[in-house]
Amino acid sequence: MRILVLGSGAREHAILLALRSEQTDHVLFAAPGNAGIARDATVVALEPDDPAAVTEFANAERIDLVVIGPEAPLIAGVADTLRDHGIPVFGPSKAAAALEGSKAFAKRIMDAAGVPTGRAVRAHTLDEAAGAIDEFGAPHVVKADGLAAGKGVIVTNDRAAALAHAAAYLPGGPVLVEEFLAGPEVSLFFLSDGDFVLPLSPAQDFKRLGDGDLGPNTGGMGAYSPLPWLTERFGGEDAFVDLVTREVAQPVIRQLDAEGTPFIGLLYAGLILTEQGVKVIEFNARFGDPETQVVLPRLVDPLSELLLAAASGHLEELPRPAFADAVAVTVVVASEGYPAAPIVGRAVTGLDAAASVSGVHIAHAATAERNGELIATGGRVLSVVGLGTTFAEARDRVYRAVDEIALEGSQHRTDIAAGVIER
Ligand code: AMP
Ligand code: GLY
Repeated sequence: MRILVLGSGAREHAILLALRSEQTDHVLFAAPGNAGIARDATVVALEPDDPAAVTEFANAERIDLVVIGPEAPLIAGVADTLRDHGIPVFGPSKAAAALEGSKAFAKRIMDAAGVPTGRAVRAHTLDEAAGAIDEFGAPHVVKADGLAAGKGVIVTNDRAAALAHAAAYLPGGPVLVEEFLAGPEVSLFFLSDGDFVLPLSPAQDFKRLGDGDLGPNTGGMGAYSPLPWLTERFGGEDAFVDLVTREVAQPVIRQLDAEGTPFIGLLYAGLILTEQGVKVIEFNARFGDPETQVVLPRLVDPLSELLLAAASGHLEELPRPAFADAVAVTVVVASEGYPAAPIVGRAVTGLDAAASVSGVHIAHAATAERNGELIATGGRVLSVVGLGTTFAEARDRVYRAVDEIALEGSQHRTDIAAGVIER
């Protein structure tokens, strides 16, 4: 297949590595890609958010499938234009992608579909926000409605800070005040063809910058998959996945279809396992980063067939994707100053030594080549992935590899998947 992947992060590199690992002769393109992606695909200078440019390229290169990594091209309507031109695309329309971009839209769809989620109030004034903050009590959760790249959410015990957050976002439109949901967080991905869903294997993401879940929220500092502790609670991973498929993913996809906004692509369910059951805290309309880096290396079935079946409405004909028993742990190496003000342009070395550790590979998140040297070009620079038969082994491998990497001032967490009890 001739496949174009849009995006430039470790998620896109993980998608390309999974396609590359299939024993077929795919021709892979990436736009805009990064220095690591350039080793596994032909990188093209193409504006990924420009529907006409992407469509023109796909036609000229006879692309069989376009896979959209990040949210921005979805919001720009790239999937809509490709679909209008009959080009198979894995990624929802602009209207369906509002499931991620508009928390109010997501809440309405969940209500209509009967999907369990926390209570929420859409506040248009500071008085309304204060009323809801007091009604729900601490910890307080206040969210901007719309794109804020993870920065739009505050979870705090400080009422004044919650109010200040609401006040900061209110000029831009209503804010969402939510009931705090207590419990472990799980990311579960579903492939959707607009009508039918197939689940992937669950993962857990570490969103805070520092060890012990301290410090600011980030795009994600690490992840692991599978989640052996689901067995104790649900009798097994499959039972958990079945439950979420039945009660969350399938109803949401059916509701979107019924409303004339079919969702074709990756439905990312962000879940909290509360004492009262599994509840949704958010949906994303794309693969998660860094969860993708630990889910896809465990996928046994060819990714290209799954994505193409979703893009062309044939998912129901496929069996549920199978996953290896191997466990995967990824640790993100980030630039100094991330997430507030990452320092970019510094040299990154030691990747060959890192990648030579048994069971380790590296997905590039933000790298470029300058005068033959690899440099960091963003906040999250690398996603180092370790595979193993146990978490102890995968962790040992990934951290040995991280220790080989040199980037002045870099940051990483040392507790990714620490304390996971083996099956
Ligand atoms: P979001 O942007 O909605 O994904 O929120 C970012 C993070 O804030 C989530 O991954 C959770 O860790 C936390 N969070 C968001 N909403 C809630 C909630 N209602 N209860 C508890 N934690 C939440
Ligand atoms: N890992 C969180 C996200 O991709 O949104």
